Amino acid sequence: MPPRSSTDGQIPLPLVNTHHTGRSALTCRYRCGDACFHEAPNTSGNSYFGDVVASAVSRRSLLRTTAVVSLGVAGASAMAVPAVADPDGRGWQREPRGLRFDAVAPNRQDAVVTAPGYEQDVVIRWGDPVLPGAPAFDPRRQTAAAQAEQFGYNVDYLALLDLPHEHRRAVLVANHEYTSEQIMFAGYDAANPTREQVEIAWAAHGLSVVVLDEERSGGLSPVRHRLNRRITATSELELTGPAAGSSLLKTSADPTGRKVLGTLNNCGGGVTPWGTVLSGEENFNQYFGNADLVTDPTTKARLGRYGLRGLASERKWERFDKRFDVAQEPNEVNRHGWIVEIDPFDPDFVPRKRTALGRFKHEAAEPRLTRDGRVVLYMGDDERFDYFYKFVSKNRMKPGTSQAARRHNLTLLDEGTLYVARFSGNSPAAEIDGTGKLPSDGAFDGSGEWIALASGRTSFVPGMTAEEVYVYTRLAADKVGATKMDRPEDVEPHPRTGTVYIALTNNSDRGAAGKAGPDEANPRTRNRHGQIVEVEETRDDPAATSFRWRLFLVCGDPSDPSTYFAGFPKDRVSPISCPDNLAFDAHGNLWISTDGNALGSNDGLFGVAVDGRSRGLVKQFLTVPIGAETCGPIIQERRILVAVQHPGEVDGATVDKPGSTWPDGPGTIARPSVVVVTRSGRGNDRIGEE
Ligand code: FEO
Ligand code: CA
Ligand code: CA
Repeated sequence: MPPRSSTDGQIPLPLVNTHHTGRSALTCRYRCGDACFHEAPNTSGNSYFGDVVASAVSRRSLLRTTAVVSLGVAGASAMAVPAVADPDGRGWQREPRGLRFDAVAPNRQDAVVTAPGYEQDVVIRWGDPVLPGAPAFDPRRQTAAAQAEQFGYNVDYLALLDLPHEHRRAVLVANHEYTSEQIMFAGYDAANPTREQVEIAWAAHGLSVVVLDEERSGGLSPVRHRLNRRITATSELELTGPAAGSSLLKTSADPTGRKVLGTLNNCGGGVTPWGTVLSGEENFNQYFGNADLVTDPTTKARLGRYGLRGLASERKWERFDKRFDVAQEPNEVNRHGWIVEIDPFDPDFVPRKRTALGRFKHEAAEPRLTRDGRVVLYMGDDERFDYFYKFVSKNRMKPGTSQAARRHNLTLLDEGTLYVARFSGNSPAAEIDGTGKLPSDGAFDGSGEWIALASGRTSFVPGMTAEEVYVYTRLAADKVGATKMDRPEDVEPHPRTGTVYIALTNNSDRGAAGKAGPDEANPRTRNRHGQIVEVEETRDDPAATSFRWRLFLVCGDPSDPSTYFAGFPKDRVSPISCPDNLAFDAHGNLWISTDGNALGSNDGLFGVAVDGRSRGLVKQFLTVPIGAETCGPIIQERRILVAVQHPGEVDGATVDKPGSTWPDGPGTIARPSVVVVTRSGRGNDRIGEE
């Protein structure tokens, strides 16, 4: 029996879907430049068979669980306490703390649907004022000047940090991944966008920093504050680290190779132990036009490996600023595809693109600390057949909040060693037949190694300089035989055990003609639903150069024999497809948001136990509106925050023919927004507890 449902109208699964991942064509076009409809850019012949985890407590989780949380009184719940069968057959037990709620069934409602007993509120919407004096949002009279002072579009990552010395306040850092022009602008003509529309889109990208008041109910509301700021596609950022100043990063507008305008397509992120926020530039390639006019074979190959192709770009930005024209400014594209670090506590801080962390389609950057205080970042490159990376800093973090400590810690991500992962399975290759059938040893598992690519100005990759390794990291990883993965998205170290969890979203091309076939870490051909990998570093040392790994979940409808839920009874789990962003709660449960549910339901947020007798128990906590993706989950004791990205982004949708009218209802424009969920009328009660 599936988990008890909180919604009627459960839909039969799986539904026929015409797209590779369950996304709409509109999402594919605007979000990643139709990446799945093109050849995957990794055509390298490197061995793909292999495998890939972390010690100190994840500061992000600490920050998330300590930020603005005042532990409430856990009152008696009106909800029954669910019970689950003990997988060992030794009787019944209560569900683990944090997961005691009635699961939400798959559905297609144009709403955020939560488990019963919870209520929701919108914290901030696209277009809401961020800066003092910003005008109210008027969808029919949008201007670039207004948007530059308002909350941007499509949030992927959320960080919430405690605001020292200010009672019941926190700083929200949100990124704005991309714009969906068809459903932003009435009458939008994709062949002929206007300058104003393009400039609004530039202003709707980037980052927002917004201070929030914590209400007694547990809700959150934006306030005017000196820390509130917007970073857009035209803000000035700094390139730092070993490739900064390289000739590969110089343009006609920036002969120093150290100053860059804007940050684009920011996806997952992370919070550093010193309280800054990291954000990964992902599908930056789609903003650049005229790659096909480039004739130099080396440049062409480099562009191709990052998915740059064709003439006019989807949004035609190259018509309005020549830096987006690759034929005119071939190096501008090299200045995107980095991890950006921002200090939200300094309103004048110039965000820094950290070249030591490599250039690829960055998904997230999650830290651990070594026992001696060096920082390790885990990073995914979200593309079919691309790689999983880590960075180990050379220097140790200085604890404390003094100016000297802050200055020092802001240099940590500029010096260190960049590695890429190779996964090896421990079962005979013949037993990995592409169906998802477990091998005879009962697990998709094995060992792995971290292959060093570069450290400081030293390259470990034959034929490439260190600068080339940092700027063309994908090409460097190709040469050393990294393992081709099924789209590595978010990564999250367990705050207590240090085990690192990686979400691999899907890979419709796995095993296709001419493509890499299944391996033990990526065991399904035509993988539509993705998997989650656990990585444990040797000796629990995040700086180790080897690790053990195993698959924790092989996602999909539990009735599908190719799925695996860590051995938990499949008839008691929620269907889950396309895991994307990850977060831990204070109890050590992993929370997973999905992007592109290929089972026909709206995307959602799921909690799953990772240890104990309920290990593998997956429960859906909420679903997001039609066309939307669930992003940025933050799981605190008393509240959950999610970003609802691209509501209404379905095939054929426009402003006048909307696919969704969430959050404000019929007659209004869909607005990507941040949502807070708390216990109904019980602002002090904890999430997922009786
Ligand atoms: Fe922006 Fe890979 O999701
Ligand atoms: Ca095995
Ligand atoms: Ca993602």
